[in-house]
Amino acid sequence: MTLILGIESSCDETAAALVASDRRILAHRVAGQETAHRPFGGVVPEIAARAHVEILPGLIEQVLAEADLRLADVDAIAATAGPGLIGGVMVGLVTAKGMALASGKPLVAVNHLEGHALSPMLTDPDLAFPYLLLLVSGGHCQLLAVDGVGRYRRLATTIDDAAGEAFDKSAKLLGLGFPGGPAVEAAARSGDPRAVKLPRPLVGSAEPHFSFAGLKSAVLRARDSGLYRAEDIAASFQQAVVDCLVDRTARAILRVPEATALVVAGGVAANQAVRGALTGLADAHGLPFVAPPLWLCTDNAAMIAWAGALRFEAGLTDGLDAPARARWPLDPDAEKARGAGVKA
Ligand SMILES: Nc1ncnc2c1ncn2[C@@H]1O[C@H](COP(=O)(O)OP(=O)(O)OP(=O)(O)O)[C@@H](O)[C@H]1O
Ligand SMILES: [Mg+2]
Repeated sequence: MTLILGIESSCDETAAALVASDRRILAHRVAGQETAHRPFGGVVPEIAARAHVEILPGLIEQVLAEADLRLADVDAIAATAGPGLIGGVMVGLVTAKGMALASGKPLVAVNHLEGHALSPMLTDPDLAFPYLLLLVSGGHCQLLAVDGVGRYRRLATTIDDAAGEAFDKSAKLLGLGFPGGPAVEAAARSGDPRAVKLPRPLVGSAEPHFSFAGLKSAVLRARDSGLYRAEDIAASFQQAVVDCLVDRTARAILRVPEATALVVAGGVAANQAVRGALTGLADAHGLPFVAPPLWLCTDNAAMIAWAGALRFEAGLTDGLDAPARARWPLDPDAEKARGAGVKA
């Protein structure tokens, strides 16, 4: 059994956690920065990085105190080393390096996406490799075959916006507030998903890639037409995203016949309509459906500590010269999606 301190600071959540390799979460805390970013309607990287500097050390002290442990008790220190907003990534990674240097404990530099990808295993002991993963977050929308720790095959990605980004931008267009995903989901509850005809980009196409930019533009046109309530546009938008996710994931299922389960992770996996539709899809293919609890879907440090534990136990530790990376694909060998912008 190993005990890992995890640190997350790649976007606007500052987080620390203590997780054991037997899946016990001894302590975890997430400090959001919504109030600092709300006036700007989105995350301001500079503000986020400064906030991590102020919040992170206290948060680490809190999780150690809550678990009644000291730094000397942990086996390794894991921190997100990318991808993400580089200022924030550097704050968390350098904090971990300082602690590793002072304590003599090994450092594990974790890919934030690997944190999301392995998070379903933290709460589901029955989930086994290989599984098909739909990773839907603020910065990414990918389908991956997860073959093992550090072994990912990217089957598809978005050629423009990520799904979470589309939720956030649509929320902004509709004046629903920030953060956008939960706001759209809440508005959609009192809307009619058939009220507005919206496109389903790439649905039916052979490769299971995603596209959401056209959907966002259609939301803008629907708003400007003045014909619809914001709730109806929100519900129609959410339904369009769900339809795209289901169609694309159905394609990918056929490409990974060895998959033991259909798994969803990342912030958009917190959406109940998304979870419900994917449950139906998995059922139709005779696959178990696995989704982490809601708090584990959005950014947190428990998933970083857990990925750190799996990497540490596989002998994958890092030197104190580990780089902070703004971009860091899980599958560096993946072909670029046709028509893809820089985000792929
Ligand atoms: N209930 C919800 N419905 C839809 N989207 C949601 C919901 N809750 C959160 N999201 C979206 O999830 C995203 C945040 O997820 P997450 O924290 O995993 O992303 P990120 O860390 O910003 O991006 P990445 O992990 O790609 O670097 C935001 O875009 C947010 O709008
Ligand atoms: Mg994330």
